[in-house]
Amino acid sequence: MASARRRRSVYACLLPLVALMGIATRRFPEHLPRVLARYGGDAFWALAVFLLVALLAPRVSTLGAAAVALGLSCLVELSQLYHAPWIDGLRGTTLGGLVLGYEFLWTDLACYTAGVGLGVLLETLVLDPVFRPTPRPRALKNPVPRRIDMDDVLKFIQQRRSIRQYQDAPVSDEQMGILLRAAMAAPSAGNEQAWAFVVISDRERMDRVVEIHPYAGMCKTAARAIVVCGDTSRAQHEGMWAQDCSAATQNLLLAAAGIGLGTCWCGVHPAAEREAAFRELCGLPDHVVPFALIAVGVPAETKGPADYYDPAKVHNETWGA
Ligand SMILES: Cc1cc2nc3c(=O)[nH]c(=O)nc-3n(C[C@H](O)[C@H](O)[C@H](O)COP(=O)(O)O)c2cc1C
Repeated sequence: MASARRRRSVYACLLPLVALMGIATRRFPEHLPRVLARYGGDAFWALAVFLLVALLAPRVSTLGAAAVALGLSCLVELSQLYHAPWIDGLRGTTLGGLVLGYEFLWTDLACYTAGVGLGVLLETLVLDPVFRPTPRPRALKNPVPRRIDMDDVLKFIQQRRSIRQYQDAPVSDEQMGILLRAAMAAPSAGNEQAWAFVVISDRERMDRVVEIHPYAGMCKTAARAIVVCGDTSRAQHEGMWAQDCSAATQNLLLAAAGIGLGTCWCGVHPAAEREAAFRELCGLPDHVVPFALIAVGVPAETKGPADYYDPAKVHNETWGA
C-alpha cells in the first residue's frame, strides 16, 4: 500500500514537470532544437495524459493507461483538426478520410505514441521494479470461515495428548460422525483416499481388543474404538496408503480433542500378528489392512500441553546446517 502511495507521489511530481515541458516546447520553439520544437509538444502532452491516467486510475494496467492516453490525445487532435468541439469533428470523419488523408494526423499520432511509449518505459523499467507492491494474498472463493489465531492453533495442537483413562460415559454417534468426517478430510496421495474405518462399540469386542493388542489396555474403559484401515484396492500410488491413513488418523485425533474427547493411537500395521488379529476381529477382506486402533472416550485424566519442539531436529537447506 505504501509503495502504491509513493508511486502516485512520483506521478504527481512528474505530471506538472512534463506539462510544463509541453507548454515550453509550444510557447518557445525558437529556443529549442527543430525536432523537439516540432514534435516535442505532442509527445509531452501525451506523456502528461498518460501520467494523469496513471495517477487518477492506479488500478488501470500500464497498457490500459497507454491506450486511454493515446485515445484521448487523438480525440483532442481531432477536435483541433476541425476547429470545433470534437463531437462535431467526428461527425465529418470517415474511415477512408482517416486512413488515406490527413497526413499530419499520422505525424501527430507518431508523436503521441512516442510520448505514451516513454510513459510505458518509465513505468515498466523504473517505477515497476522500484515500487513493486508487496504481493497480497488473493481473496479465495471458499475462505476458511473463521480466522484462528496462530498461537491458538499451536496451543490446540499441543493440547492433544494420548488419553488412556476414560470415564464411564458414552460417545454418541454424532460425535463419532465428526471424527470420521475429520479423518476423511485428510490429504492423501493423488487424493486416492485409500482408507476405511471400522467403528467398534460393542463392549465384548472392545474387551477382545485388549486381549489382542498388547498396548491397548485403555480400551477397557474407552467407550468406543475406531480401526483405521488401508484399503489397498483404492491405492493408486505404491506404498502411500499408510501415509494416507496416518494423515487421517491425526485429523481424527485433533477433531476428538476439539470436541472434548480423549483418544489414543495404538499402532497395528506393520506388526503382522496384530494385523492378523484385527483382520479376524473385524472380518476384514484381504485387500483391507488394519493400520491403527484408536481408542475413543470421555477423558478421566488431564494432561498438560506437550511441546516436543527440538531445534536440533530442524535443518536449513541441508543436513547439519
Ligand atoms: C504409530 C503410533 C503407535 C502408537 N501405539 C501406541 C500403543 O500401542 N499404545 C499406546 O498406549 N500408545 C500408542 N501410541 C501413542 C504414543 O505413545 C504417544 O503418542 C506418545 O507417547 C506421545 O504422547 P502424546 O500423544 O500424549 O503426545 C502410538 C502412537 C503412534 C503415532
